[in-house]
Amino acid sequence: MSGVSPMTELLETLSPHFGERLSVSDADRDEHAADVSHHDPARPQVVCWPETTDEVVRVVNACRDLVVPLVPYGAGTAVEGGVVATAGGLCLDTSRMNRILAIHPRDMDATVQAGVTREQLNARLEEQDTGTFFAVDPGADATLGGMAATSASGSNSVRFGTMRDNVLAVEAVMADGSVIRTSGRARKSVAGYDLTALLVGSEGTLGVITEVTLKLAPLPTAIAAAVCPFATIDGAVDAVIECLARGIPLARMELLDEVQMDAVNRYSGFDHARQPTVFFEFLGSESAVVEQSEAVGRIVAEFGGSDFCWATDEAERERLWQARHDGYYATLALREGSIGYVTDVCVPVTAMAECIRRARQELVGCSVPAPLYGHVGDGNFHVVFPIRPGDAAELAEVRRISDAIADHALALDGTITGEHGVGLGKRHLLEREHGPGVAVMRVIKQALDPLGILNPGKVLPDVVAAD
Ligand code: MLT
Ligand code: ZN
Repeated sequence: MSGVSPMTELLETLSPHFGERLSVSDADRDEHAADVSHHDPARPQVVCWPETTDEVVRVVNACRDLVVPLVPYGAGTAVEGGVVATAGGLCLDTSRMNRILAIHPRDMDATVQAGVTREQLNARLEEQDTGTFFAVDPGADATLGGMAATSASGSNSVRFGTMRDNVLAVEAVMADGSVIRTSGRARKSVAGYDLTALLVGSEGTLGVITEVTLKLAPLPTAIAAAVCPFATIDGAVDAVIECLARGIPLARMELLDEVQMDAVNRYSGFDHARQPTVFFEFLGSESAVVEQSEAVGRIVAEFGGSDFCWATDEAERERLWQARHDGYYATLALREGSIGYVTDVCVPVTAMAECIRRARQELVGCSVPAPLYGHVGDGNFHVVFPIRPGDAAELAEVRRISDAIADHALALDGTITGEHGVGLGKRHLLEREHGPGVAVMRVIKQALDPLGILNPGKVLPDVVAAD
């Protein structure tokens, strides 16, 4: 035995190549220890910033040979602890993999390195006057590699789908150091097992995504947004279901309950009614937008909605959506110094009203304020609990309620997480959703990452040793 620790050896192996792009500084380790959620931070021992796929291969090979955990890191904007380095090791920060590699406006696709953010891509698509944009919008300016790894979605998925629907292919470095590209740019392929679908949403546990080929959408000629308060939350949900049933191609339909409206009013300086409210976005040609808004206006009136309050110009619209995207922070602002515990269930849209009813029932008597909001057109909603750091009793209370909401979603044919992923926070619920399917997931993980170096301790629950 040499007596040299695997970490020392890793640093000796990688330092000559990466130089300053390899850091053991406290500041860098702290910066990469957590996401924006309540999950306790855990620092990696070292942070590395590769710029190319070959450099990622170099890092993966070194980590595998020395059996050092490797945690891929995008922008750190997620909420389920997926980037927390619970087993220490190396954090692979993709932010310097920031080249846009190809844009094909006529085929409506683009290929980027994993560290390009969605806003960077959209700025370039606009600069080059491509007439296209990348639609998936989780709110945060996340990296596209991170969004692919977590199969992110957000407010406009009701119209444009999730990352799963918008990733044509990924390039990934697998734990054995091989580099695979899962598909070409063709819109359809049935050539063998669907490795794109396997890697998208695998949260860095099966491979390190280095490039992503994405679908683009045509830029609309007209956009309009409106806010509509409802007498009841059931009325709001029923109106949305009716809009979907009539095939009105709305771009966004976001529900905020009265508690969340209050939080948003305070945080973003609005003065909307403290009532269950739907934020709508209409998009298309001028005439399509007029037609859609008239049809939706008739529907909301049927279900107890008030008149639309329009966000007329672009600045107003941006302010409105920024306020919606800041919903999480508006909730945290309800309690100074709080951190967020978030639920993320998703059910068939027709079960949404029932699931919300059951969730609100669970909240009766809860000692923590608990606003509810979400992507009502997808059947996906969040209850966000702004909890006090270090308060174990509060954490236990909130976790119990959150798990009960997840059980209600499962009973209604839904899922424990529609978009935030499993990370650390939903692992204990995975078996409730998938049963023996979890064993199949373990087989896949074991086959692709036999040493368990890729983002260990995430997604799959720990195996409990038999007595
Ligand atoms: C959102 O819907 O704003 C995001 O999923 C983040 C969140 O709820 O915390
Ligand atoms: Zn969301």
